[in-house]
This record gives sequence, C-alpha cells and structure tokens, in this order.
Amino acid sequence: MTTDYTAHRLAVIGAGVMGTNISALALGHGVPVTLVDLDEDKLAEARRTIKTKLRHAQLMDVLPDRPQGTLTTTVSLTDVADATTVVEAVVEIAETKYKVLAEVSGIVRPGTTLISNTSCISIDEMAEHVSRPEELVGVHFMNPAYMIEMVEVIRGTGTSPEILAAVTGLLTDLGRKSLVINDSTGFVINRLLHPLINTAAMLVQEGVAPAEVVDGLLEGCLGHSTGPLRTGDLIGLDNLVDSLRVLYKQRGDESCNPCDLLLEKVREGNLGRKTGRGFYDYGKAM
Ligand code: NAI
Repeated sequence: MTTDYTAHRLAVIGAGVMGTNISALALGHGVPVTLVDLDEDKLAEARRTIKTKLRHAQLMDVLPDRPQGTLTTTVSLTDVADATTVVEAVVEIAETKYKVLAEVSGIVRPGTTLISNTSCISIDEMAEHVSRPEELVGVHFMNPAYMIEMVEVIRGTGTSPEILAAVTGLLTDLGRKSLVINDSTGFVINRLLHPLINTAAMLVQEGVAPAEVVDGLLEGCLGHSTGPLRTGDLIGLDNLVDSLRVLYKQRGDESCNPCDLLLEKVREGNLGRKTGRGFYDYGKAM
C-alpha cells in the first residue's frame, strides 16, 4: 500500500527554533505546511531558516526520496482551518499557549489533531482551555527535529485513543519513532535534562569549571554526545529559563530555579546559537 503524504496537511504555529524545525521535517517528508507567526519579518526569516535546514537534512541524507511539501506562511490564525493536524510551537509561557490553543480549537474542524510541542507545561492544564480536550496531545519533538528520530509523546488524561493513533501514524509517516508517556509537568526528558543544564550553569557561575570543561567531562566520562551547556545553547537560553520557571513553580525543586548566570545571559540577549552567543561564541546566529 502506498501512503499519500499530501493527505496530511500540517499547520505549525510559531516560526521560531522549533516551528522551523518541525516545518522542515514535514516538508522534507512531502507533507504540505502552513506556518503561522505574529509578523511578516519573522516569517521571512523562517522561510530562509527552513531552506537552510532542508539543505542540511539533504546533505546529512536524512530525508526520503520524495517531492517536498509546499510551504505557506501567514500571520492569520484562521488559515489553519483546513489542517488535519495543528502543531502549537509558540513560546513556553502558559498563558500564551492557553490563548493560542483556545483560538485554534475554535477554528479547526472536529477530529483535527491538536498537538502542543511544549517542553514542560502539563497537557491536562492546557486541555482546560480547548473546546475538545480529547483532541489535544503533547508531542515533544527534539531539536533538530529532522535529525533526531525519537519523539516523546504525552497522553493527557482526556486524550482519545483515536487521536493517539492518528499522531502515531503521522509520526511514522515523518520517519519518527515515538514513546508514549502520561502527563506530568516537564514530562520525562525535561524533568531530567533542564535541572542538569541549570546545575551545569551553576558550576560555571561558582567558578568550579568553565563551560567547555563541564561539557567535556559529561561528554568524555559519561558518554553524553553533547554536553549540557552546548545543549542549552542549542535549545535557546530564553526558552530554557521559561521552562525552568514552569518546573520550579510546579515542583519547588531548587535545581529548577534558574541560576543568576542563566538570567544574566538572557538579560544580555546572549541566548545561544540563535543569537550567535551563549555559553559559547558561534560567530553568527545559527
Ligand atoms: P522561539 O522563541 O524560538 O519561537 C517561538 C515563536 O512563537 C516566535 O517566533 C514567536 O514570534 C512566536 N509566537 C509567540 N506568540 C505567538 C502567537 N500568539 N501566535 C503565533 N506565534 C507566536 O521558541 P522555540 O524554541 O521554538 O520553542 C517553541 C516551543 O517548543 C516552546 O514551547 C518550547 O518549550 C518547545 N521546545 C523547544 C525546544 C528547543 O530546543 N528550543 C525543544 C523542544 C520543545
């Protein structure tokens, strides 16, 4: 049986680090994408970024031999009405996500899969803001989404088996593997990863070791392919701080209280690869 990849129509909301990653993954697998953000400048930058990511994915030989999907960009949320799946990838601020999801659930047809790519925020809490909570599911794509095969899928208390099956089918068509977990703030990956990055930043702040030494130890001794501070730079330190705040508020665990060094870097606009400098200097925004 052949799969009609254009039967999926993906809408992605938020054209930042992850929105462009997820769009590149879908386009590279032949799925058409409508990408939404707040202004045209952001979308123009996103179109360039997606082109670069698709070229990178081709060079790395991680795309199937299939015509690419078509990309449409828009500032109008109503343009997601025809999507079969909507992926919310806006900033990690609960109130912003609640508002976007509430609006989207009023626009799409019943039966549309509603995905949140949140790093930390509980799916059940978000479900309180949508009209059909059974259609909401968490899909935590990794960064870069077209390179990392495994995806963390979060089943909310109300997520229906049909939506869970639909999302697993979509991920398979996008060449991803998935593991399903139950809802909990931070899920599995970021309850483990984000306090680790925060603690690594504290070690730098306290003068115990510079970033490259902290990373070098975790890479060399523990076999991590990327050290925690390099990973923080890849995620974006602003997004990391927002995520840590969600975790700290919910869990009260001191290792999730964003340390001064992280806050200082965010205040100075040194957000990691996306601004060209974070714990490391990249020369230019990447
Ligand atoms: P980002 O800050 O790079 O991009 C967020 C985008 O959302 C911006 O372009 C912003 O203009 C847009 N936006 C904000 N409000 C909007 C609205 N009302 N309507 C439309 N667009 C709006 O953030 P990033 O890193 O892409 O994160 C997005 C989501 O993905 C967050 O929930 C984050 O926690 C999650 N995530 C991030 C990962 C990473 O490595 N950066 C990895 C996995 C998940």
